Order: sequence, then C-alpha cells, then structure tokens
Amino acid sequence: MESKLKPWELVAIPLLLALLNLQNLASAVPQVPSYFIFGDSISDSGNNNKLAKLAKVNYPPYGIDFPEGPTGRYSNGRTVHDFIDYMLPFAESNEKNIFNGVNYASGATGIRDETGQHRIKNHKTIISRITSLMRNDSATKSLLSQCIYSIQIGSNGYLNNYFMSELYDTRLYSQCGYATLLVQQLSDQLKVIDIHFSTTQANAPPT
Ligand SMILES: *[C@@H]1O[C@H](CO)[C@@H](O)[C@H](O)[C@H]1NC(C)=O
Repeated sequence: MESKLKPWELVAIPLLLALLNLQNLASAVPQVPSYFIFGDSISDSGNNNKLAKLAKVNYPPYGIDFPEGPTGRYSNGRTVHDFIDYMLPFAESNEKNIFNGVNYASGATGIRDETGQHRIKNHKTIISRITSLMRNDSATKSLLSQCIYSIQIGSNGYLNNYFMSELYDTRLYSQCGYATLLVQQLSDQLKVIDIHFSTTQANAPPT
C-alpha cells in the first residue's frame, strides 16, 4: 500500500539501519525510559490484527523471517523500529509492559479523521494508565519528557483518502490546499502528544 522508495531512500535507509545496529551492539542498556511509536503500515507491529481493516497481513509470506510466522507486520521481518527495540502493539499493552513503551501504529492509518484518530485516543489511555500507576503527576511528566516519540505518517492521506474521491469529498481541495490541511491536522495532533509533558515548565513557580 506504500509508494515505491526513491533513490536517496535506498541509500539512506540501509545506512540508518546499519547505524542503529552498531548502536545496539555498543550498548544494550536502555538510554530512555520508553519508546512510543505512531505510524502506519511501515511501523505497525500487530495492531491491525485486532482491528476490522481490509489491509490484513496475518498470512504468509508476511513474517517469514520470524520463527512464529506472521506477526501483523507488513514485512517479512523486522520494521525499522524493531532495530531499536520490540515495542508491543497497543492491543497487547498491559500494566507490566506499558513502561517500556507502546506501538500505536496500524496499517492504512493516516493523518485525517477518516484514516484514524484512534492513535491519539490510545495514547491518552496509556498516559492515564501510567499516571494512575505512578501516582505522582510531576514524576509522570518528567518520565514522559524523557521518552522517544517516533511519528511516521502521511502517505495514507493520499492513498486511502485524497485519491479515493469516489468515497471521500477530497475533490473540494486543491493539491496545495490538501497538503496544508494535512500539515495543520498533524500539527494539532502533535500538540496533543506534547501537552502531557510540556506543562511541567508551565507549572514551574514564578521566579
Ligand atoms: C513526586 O516526584 C518528584 C520527582 O519528580 C519527587 O520530587 C516528589 O517527592 C514525588 N512526590 C511524592 C509525593 O512522592
């Protein structure tokens, strides 16, 4: 469902993967508390298995390089995130593992409401679970401010939305107007993620 790689990506992606691998060998001790992943099929680690979606990958040859076979990844093997660490999908998160991080990504997800708002809702759910487990708002904010947040999204706004004008009213937008709309909506969504820890500063006592 994703577009073909551009020449620079063919060079940049293997290079990035090689660097990440070297880093893994150098140090296995986590350098951040948690890793939160937002994205589409490129980042999905199995959320689509539990969702009523047409874009399924629960059959071979997906997952042929995993001993257990298909995992819900749109791939034969690891995603780019797996080279950093294996983050469980939101659907499999529980009180024992949420402190490692959560993967909210799912195939066919995009920026617009039509292609998925649930990742923000799911992150809010996780934040409130962490907050109630920690029972200390400032410690929770401090923890969340030290995590890695990976956001990989955009192509489905076109593949599953803009170019499907028989299903959606996307003809209303010019190409430029639509791009501006996507940027605006993504920007608003990033603020929702950010708000959970940026208030640490806002609450600081006046000097
Ligand atoms: C909450 O966490 C902060 C550190 O972020 C700590 O200084 C404070 O003592 C904690 N409060 C309680 C009630 O444990």
